[in-house]
Amino acid sequence: MYRIAVLISGSGSNLQALFDAQDQGDLGGAEVALVVSDRGDAYGLQRALARGVAAAHVPIPAAPGGPARQAARAAWEQRLANVVAAFTPDLVVLAGFMRILSPDFLQHFPDRVINQHPALLPADGGDTVTTSAGLVIPALRGAHVVPDALRHRLPVTGCTIHRVTPRVDDGPILAQAEVPVLPGDDQASLHERIKTHERRMIVQVVRELAAASCRI
Ligand code: GRF
Repeated sequence: MYRIAVLISGSGSNLQALFDAQDQGDLGGAEVALVVSDRGDAYGLQRALARGVAAAHVPIPAAPGGPARQAARAAWEQRLANVVAAFTPDLVVLAGFMRILSPDFLQHFPDRVINQHPALLPADGGDTVTTSAGLVIPALRGAHVVPDALRHRLPVTGCTIHRVTPRVDDGPILAQAEVPVLPGDDQASLHERIKTHERRMIVQVVRELAAASCRI
């Protein structure tokens, strides 16, 4: 069995897409073994618990700034890595997980962490993306890329699934889709259109990775 740990911070509709695909036998034999959130109120934790899937809340403790904050953050990452490692995942999926993970975390799961990003990212790690229509648009990185696409008045944005490397919002691309920005779009309508593609793509990527691992 190809075991997945899914890290979330919110609603978990992408997690639900993985559950649904698993139920329909459409996930290449992969199964979600663990769901973890940095937020106790993340609805995705309820989705996991309702199915009897292990769910953990690993909160970041409040700490003052400076070295104390850095130490608290490092201790949190270690706790998170311990929880995830205990479930021996073949793949760690960041599905709306709104924290940046350091190389210290990533070294526990080499080449086994993938991320969903609700914008187009370039394959070369650069600052621009060329769309299929030949349009050059800024590569949007960070936690606010859906409103950023509206702010920049981009005619097209998209979503990317990529392997996670120490460089934030970078790393080899596994799947990508362009999504039009329509007149009258607000953040909610645009994000929901993007998420429709994200849910389809995360299922496809997990299925392909599970299948590739079976062939090794
Ligand atoms: C997705 O758009 C993901 O790319 C972003 O957060 C959203 C998660 O949505 N980082 P959900 O919690 O799976 O509904």
